[in-house]
Amino acid sequence: MGEIDESFIQSIEHRPKSISVEAEGIPVIDLSALNSQDLVVQVGDACKNWGFFQVINHWVPSSCREKVDLASRAFFRQPSEEKRKVRRDEANPMGFYDTEHTKNVRDWKQVFDFTVENPTVVPASHEPDDPELQEIVNQWPEYPPNFREACEEYAREIEKLAYKLLELISLSLGLPAEKFNGFFKNQTSFMRLNSYPICPIPHLALGVGRHKDSGALTVLAQDDVGGLEVKRKSDGEWVQVRPTPNAYIINVGDVIQVWSNDKYESVEHRVTVNSERERFSIPFFFNPSHNVMVEPLKELTTKQNPARYKPYNWGKFHTTRNISNFKKLNVENIQIYHFRI
Ligand code: OGA
Ligand code: NI
Repeated sequence: MGEIDESFIQSIEHRPKSISVEAEGIPVIDLSALNSQDLVVQVGDACKNWGFFQVINHWVPSSCREKVDLASRAFFRQPSEEKRKVRRDEANPMGFYDTEHTKNVRDWKQVFDFTVENPTVVPASHEPDDPELQEIVNQWPEYPPNFREACEEYAREIEKLAYKLLELISLSLGLPAEKFNGFFKNQTSFMRLNSYPICPIPHLALGVGRHKDSGALTVLAQDDVGGLEVKRKSDGEWVQVRPTPNAYIINVGDVIQVWSNDKYESVEHRVTVNSERERFSIPFFFNPSHNVMVEPLKELTTKQNPARYKPYNWGKFHTTRNISNFKKLNVENIQIYHFRI
């Protein structure tokens, strides 16, 4: 990246610490070992106490993960001119992108995004009264030749895991297993291949600045380098999520926070980078359909525990976010707390 661009520099209070704490506490849940009742209890406890957990024995074939991992590395290894042939622009938010900002500081990363439904229907604009819709169509690079196939196969497998987790979360809230499934018909989910290059200033920059995921659920594959940090609920300390081979890291997003009326909170996290090894990760953002009005579920509110949020339209919310990311507006991004009652 040549001369260090000042846009990468985090303000002092947000810089990573030189010694990072490892989170022994993040629950590791074995999806195959438990009877279903114990599994539901473990998932519920993890969502409530951490907002984050890892799953092992999850039935996603490791060959499928290896294939997408190799394809991702091959894609990012190419010169920038090649990658820019599939770059994202104002018309198409999917594809390659290397200038993402989180809270107006540039992230030390490159990404490639693709939607799970192809095409995906979203609002044409963020204007609240504009009913027009548009279709997002994925763009695919020519190299490596099996890139598209690897990505699409992987997405289908992770989607199955995401539905399984969603059902466990629903049961843990005392709801029927499939309570949430209808919200994901014509989902706006997308997969992101992340590459975090070697960074000469890892004490000043971040791979991704602190943020919460705005969708329902995130299913993340990380490699063995490490760098994901989670803000521990018990004391606000940033703790590392230690890489576990072949595991997936799951976190609850803002949409589940609202559906559960704050029972399961979306937790802040960030990514540190290092000067020795590049890092790769692949999050799957499991997002509802654009027309879903997100609001606390009636079943989870009572007179004593009334709804804490006004309903908001998922499609408009997400489009507003994307636009302000793209234009790097100097205003605070839209957040769920803007809908707090
Ligand atoms: C994200 C994110 C974590 C990682 O992309 O929202 O939190 O380890 N990524 O790459
Ligand atoms: Ni995230």
